[in-house]
Amino acid sequence: MSMQIPPKKKITVSSMQKLKGKEKLVMITAYDALFASLFEEYVDMILVGDSLNMSFFGKNDTLSATLEQMIYHTKAVCNGAQKPLIIFDMPFGSYPNKDEALKNAIRVYQETNADAIKIEGGSERAEIVEHLTKNGIAVISHIGLMPQFVRSEGGYKVRGKTKEDQEQLLKDAKILEQAGAFALLLEGMVSSIATKITNEVAIPTIGIGAGSGCDGQVLVWSDLLGIFESFKPKFVKEYLNGAALIKEAVANYAKEVKEGKFPSEEFSY
Ligand code: KIV
Repeated sequence: MSMQIPPKKKITVSSMQKLKGKEKLVMITAYDALFASLFEEYVDMILVGDSLNMSFFGKNDTLSATLEQMIYHTKAVCNGAQKPLIIFDMPFGSYPNKDEALKNAIRVYQETNADAIKIEGGSERAEIVEHLTKNGIAVISHIGLMPQFVRSEGGYKVRGKTKEDQEQLLKDAKILEQAGAFALLLEGMVSSIATKITNEVAIPTIGIGAGSGCDGQVLVWSDLLGIFESFKPKFVKEYLNGAALIKEAVANYAKEVKEGKFPSEEFSY
């Protein structure tokens, strides 16, 4: 008798939205098929984040990631994972106005199997979000600390520290929901305003550095696994001491090669 492997049930924008208020949503980033295939059983969503420009490509910020690079990595992630909702992070400069944004988002849908795209920006981007959603593109809006603004803002600044900024964030969230965003990604803001936004919008909120009141959480995979050593923001919890484990394994391999111990008989034909 052959073992039947149950088919994986694909998570869609609407099935994910229905989980708001019922169960917490889990998102992780991935940049390739191998890691996406390891993650897919445990997560609802995979974000092909432009953070790959830092942790995969070695740059200091996300700004030089290109549409071509993001498409390449998204194709790889889609090859590795079928079940989670796959979100394509539109890179800096790929959505300066609604027409350019739609042209590039259509290219993403045509060249990859991504289910949705993510764009950074508040109410100033509402017209773009509305144009995309009216043309059949599912959009998650990213507000709060926005890494694509790191140079214009002169650093990564936690948001929502003043009453005015909290009001602005809440206003942005509501306008983006109205414009058609199917979810909000809330990054780097004080927990109380992220919770308030979560309670006042009908769409799911996914937090990163935004406290426990959000509908879900996202972490960058290389932060979660303790592999990215350049810097560690306060919100990162390392679930593995990945860098130390990898270094130890490679050091053992190198030592055994130098000493002529690898490959032994066991690993030879
Ligand atoms: O690019 C990315 O990985 C992101 C996360 C920080 C949410 O946008």
